[in-house]
Amino acid sequence: MNLTLSGNAKPLLGNPQLPGDKSISHRALLLASLAEGPSRIRNFLHAGVTDVMVKSLSALGIETEYLNQDDLLVLGHVWQAPERTLDCGNSGTTMRFLLGALASSTFVSTLDGTDRLRQRPMARVVEPLTRMGANIRTPSAKHLAPLTIQGGPLHGIEYTLPVASAQVKTALLIAALNAEGPTILEEPGPSRDHTERMLISMGVSLQKNGNRIRLEPENTKLPPLSTTVPRDISAAAFLITAALIVPGSRLYLNQLGVNPTRTGLIDVIKRMGARIKTGPVTVINSEPVTDLEISFSELQATDIFGENVVRMIDEFPIFAIAATQAKGTTTVRDAGELRIKESDRITALVTELRKMGAAIEECSDGFVVDGPTRLKGAVVQSHGDHRLAMALSIAGLVAEGETVVEGADSIEQSFPSFPSVLAEMGVDIR
Ligand code: S3P
Repeated sequence: MNLTLSGNAKPLLGNPQLPGDKSISHRALLLASLAEGPSRIRNFLHAGVTDVMVKSLSALGIETEYLNQDDLLVLGHVWQAPERTLDCGNSGTTMRFLLGALASSTFVSTLDGTDRLRQRPMARVVEPLTRMGANIRTPSAKHLAPLTIQGGPLHGIEYTLPVASAQVKTALLIAALNAEGPTILEEPGPSRDHTERMLISMGVSLQKNGNRIRLEPENTKLPPLSTTVPRDISAAAFLITAALIVPGSRLYLNQLGVNPTRTGLIDVIKRMGARIKTGPVTVINSEPVTDLEISFSELQATDIFGENVVRMIDEFPIFAIAATQAKGTTTVRDAGELRIKESDRITALVTELRKMGAAIEECSDGFVVDGPTRLKGAVVQSHGDHRLAMALSIAGLVAEGETVVEGADSIEQSFPSFPSVLAEMGVDIR
């Protein structure tokens, strides 16, 4: 599927509705499936990346039912041996989280996914899980998918993660729930902490001290969840940026998750001159939530490196579009992880944005953008990456002439209503 945007968009005005947070939806679903009894997850992200987890869990004997579009009932239960390979699609989160949960099962499972998922690093999960006693086999010397895991008894470990990855941390914490003895993890920097918050809210004995986490397993079943997922700040990032760069725009976004491990983009873009007003913050189901008002702004260039990179790791495709409209030279460093996401986001972004006339240079661990540039409409590719497809669509709003985003069906993975949300705000998108 292609998306076509006519360019020179009119001001974006309104109060668009955003989907539930992808990371929190994944965690709520998995923990609910490990719990004893029925859980209810409201505002669950109903999209491609969560569908593959729902289907894998169904193969493991876990029943789920949508009570309406985004209200999910999960009947937590004892997991059963799957009769088929668990297809994780293009979702690294699904594969890594399931590995953590299956490590202590009583049966054998095989996990596989798309060609892209087969290229993404799994050794970062396989290696520490093996130290915990897991038995994981792979035909690849680099521990790439497909992966076959024979569940068995695990023991807690003390482990320093080589990269600040919330997916790895979560896989290990889930495995630690059923291990013998405590697990102590040390992160090189703060990655998103939704798992820790949710586990604590479910009564798990988990202590955090800076970047050190200690989980003491109790070898009892988790209690069921009843939770409402905040709206996704990573989905909001596309609309926030659109409002900042399309002259005359003003948007209101409600009930947005603003966990401090996820708000790197907001902090950076405010530093660049973005006019963003934040309402009072309330805590719902242990996650902070607020309302934002975003108005068109003249942006100035900035540099991003270090811990801020992790706090906005999914936002670089859309941040690159903002950088093309900011005055001066914007530099992104320490972001080598972008090369192993749903696409190599550094090469893909540089290739596609150059087609639109952007002054952007590739570096090994980031990119450099000179702005502002009047972008030109072009035919661009999503590289099968949902975030690239949405970022390039937003670039098309401020371009002169028509932009065609090829492979835009990937948007279904995390924000299926993205085209209709833009259309409702008057954007000419087909
Ligand atoms: C996620 C963590 C991040 C992020 C991904 C979702 C999560 O990945 O890029 O979209 O839900 O834990 P890493 O942990 O690999 O950095």
